[in-house]
Amino acid sequence: MRFSFLGTQPSARSSGRLQPYQSLFVSDHADGTTVINHLAVDMHAHWLPGVDDGAKDFQESIEIIRKLSELGYRKLIATPHIMSGYYDNSPSFLIERFEDFLRKFLLENIDIELALAAEYMIDEGFKKHLDSDFFLLLPRKMILIELPILNAYAGYEELIFEIKLKGYQPVVAHPERYGYMHADLEKYEQLKDAGCLFQLNMLSLNGQYGKNVASIARELLDRNWYELVGTDLHNRSQLKQLNSIELNGHFLNHTLIKNVATPIPTGI
Ligand SMILES: [Fe+2]
Repeated sequence: MRFSFLGTQPSARSSGRLQPYQSLFVSDHADGTTVINHLAVDMHAHWLPGVDDGAKDFQESIEIIRKLSELGYRKLIATPHIMSGYYDNSPSFLIERFEDFLRKFLLENIDIELALAAEYMIDEGFKKHLDSDFFLLLPRKMILIELPILNAYAGYEELIFEIKLKGYQPVVAHPERYGYMHADLEKYEQLKDAGCLFQLNMLSLNGQYGKNVASIARELLDRNWYELVGTDLHNRSQLKQLNSIELNGHFLNHTLIKNVATPIPTGI
């Protein structure tokens, strides 16, 4: 499938040298065609202001959205944290805040579609969401879940099983960032066997979370274990970090092209 060019720097491409931002969105195919805007939908970011550790205010939020729009994204899905003890956001509260935000956003005249999902922490507090069965979902009944960064919650496998049992598709956010799994890649295989999809955090690639995370991200890419990719942007300084990512054959592997480029822009 081919995508039309929606980027902002055509002159950089015609000069034969890609600007760093543009390199995020361009890949030359062997047959000479170009895949552009393969990341048309961002399914992980924290630009809904004032609800978690993401954008602090409306202005920062708009800066992030405007830049992603300029980069060629056509749809952005906010995924604020739902994390008991830290960000006890209920789905209904987030919907209310999102609707308030949209009312102001419409006055900004930015041509992009916005949507709301959430990033659910898999720990003790997640059980109440399972019981309520009221989730803020990504498309196709996907639930974006994260595991604790330092130590896994002992019951996470059971909770993932229950997510599947209720007919949802768990998507594990940034699996490369869970240091306790680095020494034992079988743990990743177990998540795969449990039916999870993996979502790469784009900023993991440039060492923002350390060399080990970057190296595991490359390893998982080489194994074709990622199906999805997200920016996980929280603020304007991370927005600048996108500038330093050099995407290459590792990133644009067949799994990501197949699962990110083709079905998602047409299926959402
Ligand atoms: Fe996140």
